[in-house]
Amino acid sequence: RTTAVILAGGTGQRVGLSIPKQLLKIAGKAVIEHTLTTFENADSIDDIIVLMAQGYVPDVEKIVAKAGFKKVSKIIEGGSTRNETTERAIAALGEGLAEGEDVNVLFHDAVRPLLSQRVIDDCVTALERYQAVDVAIPSADTIIVTRTHGGDGEFITEIPDRSRLRRGQTPQAFKLSTIKRAYEVAAGDPNFQATDDCSVVLKYLPDVPIHVVAGDEYNMKVTQPVDVFIADKLFQLASTAAPEQVSEEAYRELLTGKTVVVFGG
Ligand code: CTP
Repeated sequence: RTTAVILAGGTGQRVGLSIPKQLLKIAGKAVIEHTLTTFENADSIDDIIVLMAQGYVPDVEKIVAKAGFKKVSKIIEGGSTRNETTERAIAALGEGLAEGEDVNVLFHDAVRPLLSQRVIDDCVTALERYQAVDVAIPSADTIIVTRTHGGDGEFITEIPDRSRLRRGQTPQAFKLSTIKRAYEVAAGDPNFQATDDCSVVLKYLPDVPIHVVAGDEYNMKVTQPVDVFIADKLFQLASTAAPEQVSEEAYRELLTGKTVVVFGG
């Protein structure tokens, strides 16, 4: 059995709107509705739970009712950090399980609405062999490591070999028992700090190999204001053709076309 967990507990400070960015309308639908549609249509996903920003659960309930999603089994509030949101999801998932029963769980950022079915399927397949799975793409940019030096700003301390660097995306997929155990060990660390879930497994269950599935350039995270425009363009393309079969005409339209973004809750 495989459950998708949609992490939507954030408020989108960097996009800076009056509503969480997952409720922003792009290409006629709220970002989170695009994301839910992808999992609703995925053959390998049995059910979906949503962890939404505090105060906005009713907005998601409305979206789910209107779209008629059948797989969404729970919509609850997230926590004050992404990891707290994950922990709430783990607790909610454990409730319905019999002793010794395990399930697959895919944690996905609500604000990555362009996830492909291929990536979902590859994650679920990888869980047949591995207890922890990440999704990543190569980095086109050189990544530098810096440290700040007094009032003088940032200085480079290291430039890692780019060929080995990857940019982590989501889903991050686990056996529920594994991610649960990782968070249990982490709970004993007073300095616990993380921004994703694979890093919790890497640090607290170092013997568990984390398999990496190839991600997708389209699977971008709506993080900064400019990403809203990029996502809108990508949806225009997606409605024209499959990403790998973009026609020259569609490509030209991408470069010259008019962007239509509808803001609203
Ligand atoms: N997230 C979450 N619970 C939190 C914080 C974040 O579930 N307490 C989710 C977000 O809703 C998003 C994903 O984690 O789907 C990626 O996080 P990010 O892009 O950082 O989202 P925000 O925290 O909303 O953005 P910002 O940091 O700009 O406020």
